[in-house]
Amino acid sequence: MVKSAYIHIPFCKNICSYCDFCKIYYNEKLVDNYLYSLEKEIKDKYENEKLDTIYIGGGTPSALSIKGLEKLFDITKSFKLEDDYEFTIECNIEDITIDMLELFKNNKVNRLSVGVQSFNNKILKYLGRNYDSKIIKEKIMLCKKYFYNINIDLIYAVNNQSLSDLEEDLNNILDLNISHVSCYSLIIEEHTKLYVNEVKPIDSDLDYEMYKLINKKLSKKYNHYEVSNYSIPGYESKHNLKYWMNEEYYGFGLSAAGYICNVRYTNTRNLNKYLNNEYGLDKEIIDKKSKIKYELILGFRLTKGINKDDFYKKYGILIYDIDNINKLISQGYLIDDTQNIYVNEKYFYVLNDILINFV
Ligand SMILES: C[S@@+](CC[C@H](N)C(=O)[O-])C[C@H]1O[C@@H](n2cnc3c(N)ncnc32)[C@H](O)[C@@H]1O
Ligand code: SF4
Repeated sequence: MVKSAYIHIPFCKNICSYCDFCKIYYNEKLVDNYLYSLEKEIKDKYENEKLDTIYIGGGTPSALSIKGLEKLFDITKSFKLEDDYEFTIECNIEDITIDMLELFKNNKVNRLSVGVQSFNNKILKYLGRNYDSKIIKEKIMLCKKYFYNINIDLIYAVNNQSLSDLEEDLNNILDLNISHVSCYSLIIEEHTKLYVNEVKPIDSDLDYEMYKLINKKLSKKYNHYEVSNYSIPGYESKHNLKYWMNEEYYGFGLSAAGYICNVRYTNTRNLNKYLNNEYGLDKEIIDKKSKIKYELILGFRLTKGINKDDFYKKYGILIYDIDNINKLISQGYLIDDTQNIYVNEKYFYVLNDILINFV
């Protein structure tokens, strides 16, 4: 049964130099029309299940005005929720206000995900972000008055960033004492300003040193539970865990991906089509073989890996009978302990090269 919903809000007030996510410049009229279609899509698809998790991402959900957010929460009111639900909304630093946080609090939001990216003013400028480290600290302190469950997104491996720049970012994160951190190595995506300016990824040895530094510093306080994610125990992202545990979820909104009734689907990225209620773009039927493929490529992202008994109960076959599993265990890439098989910490950094064995 579907127990989770992702909702995409594609509007941004500022387009960052590295971002290839589905986003559109903020425009109030478009927001109104968009929310109208979003409501219709949800009414068409949602079957009144009690949900464990809702995640509103973007784009920038916090770019919406208070009026726009009120309309959005009118829509999310239609979702039934379990008692221990998690309801996350993504916010950008510059948008955060007391009024907004109070509105979140009054509308069942209980987790914030804040895109900080860096505390270094030069790097922030390079990434095209419109705030500085002083504002970050003020805004996060404000968020902490309303929420305990807060994630911060950080980007590293930025051109000209040194290990000591990164160390400073990590010290800042640790000082803020929040419950969850996501750290992403900068990807130079096509169709971005960085790509057009022919920026190249940083040296892979430095990237590896940075990854190790992040692990070393953050592991003192946080549990490294997924390749890019760290949390205080008990504050892992329940919503993202649904993805990594290969469970079904609704995806609503422009470009949103969902997984329902053995179909993985992606919505259109074309705003006009979406506003005409033509949501669908792609569908992939998930048979048993492809379900197993996803189980492996998603499950091995988690540091605890895949539970062997659960795998057998779900698929009626031993995980050892999957192609390449025994080879990867004997080569030391996978560790086989009593209950779980997981990626050797030493090779987590080259996770994609391991996962390719299951595609
Ligand atoms: C699509 S953004 C949406 C959140 C919000 N609008 C923001 O800007 O913080 C989600 C996260 O993905 C990460 N991200 C986006 N593009 C990236 C890239 N090219 N390389 C690495 N991380 C990226 C950033 O850390 C960002 O916070
Ligand atoms: S990183 Fe966030 S704010 Fe920047 S363009 Fe992408 S979605 Fe918008």
